[in-house]
Amino acid sequence: MNIEELLKTFWNDYLAITPVAKQVNDLLLKNGKTIVNDHIALRTFAHAKTSKEKIAKFFLDFGYEIRGDYDFEEKKLNAIHLENTRDANLPKIFISELRYLELNPENSEVIQRELDSLSELSVMELFTKSSVFNVSIKEYESLAGESEYAAWMCAIGFRPNHFTIDVNKLENFSSLLDLNNLLKQNGVALNTFGGEIKGAPSVYLEQTSTMADKIEVELLDGKKEVPSCYYEFAFRYKLPSGEFYQGFVTNSADKIFESTNVKN
Ligand code: NI
Repeated sequence: MNIEELLKTFWNDYLAITPVAKQVNDLLLKNGKTIVNDHIALRTFAHAKTSKEKIAKFFLDFGYEIRGDYDFEEKKLNAIHLENTRDANLPKIFISELRYLELNPENSEVIQRELDSLSELSVMELFTKSSVFNVSIKEYESLAGESEYAAWMCAIGFRPNHFTIDVNKLENFSSLLDLNNLLKQNGVALNTFGGEIKGAPSVYLEQTSTMADKIEVELLDGKKEVPSCYYEFAFRYKLPSGEFYQGFVTNSADKIFESTNVKN
C-alpha cells in the first residue's frame, strides 16, 4: 500500500462515521474547488503496544519525519507532528497520546485492563480492527466524566479523529471567518469552546472545527450513542522567514480537542 492508498483508506473510514465532512466537502466542491488536507489527527494511549512512537515509526516508511513535540498538561496528553519530506502536499500527521496512568485509579485500571488484553498488533492492524476495546456503558460514562479523550478511544478505537481542510489552498476564501460564515449559513455546527476561531496571526495559525457527529456503538453490555469525529479547518500565516508556519499551537488544540465533548 502506498501513502495515497493509505490516506484514502483512512479517509473512507473517517467519512463513514463523520457525515459532516461529506456535507462540508459537497458544499465546497460545488463550484469545482479543490480541497487539500492540512493534517490528519490520530489518538492513542501511552503504552508500548500503542505508543505514538510506534505509530510515528509506521509513517517514517512513507517519507514522514517527526517535526514537532507538544504537551497538553491539563488533558494529560503528549503529541508530535510529522511532515512528509518527499511531498509537501501530503497532509501532516498529528499524533497525540493519553498518559492514562495519570487518570484516577478506577479509570486508569479499565484502560490498563484493555491494553493488557490487547494482542500485539501492527499499526495497520490496530487501525483496521473493528473493535479494539470492550468497555461497559458504566465504564464508558466514568471515563467520559474524567477524560472525554479516554472515553472516545475506548468507544471508537484507532481511527482518524479528524481531517483538516487547508483553508489557504481553498479558492474564494481569504480568511477563516468567510469560511465559517458559509458553514454556519448551511447549518454546520461549529465548536465554540474558546471562541469559533482558535489562535491568531500572532501565533501563525488559526483553526476552527465542527462539533463531532454522533454514532451508536456497541459497548460490552449494550448500545450507546457517542461522539464520533469532527472536521477541522486551518489557516496558516507566514513566519518572518517567509515560510508558512507548519506547527501546531497548544492553547488552540486544547480547545479543539473539546469538539468530541458530549455536552456542547
Ligand atoms: Ni487538528
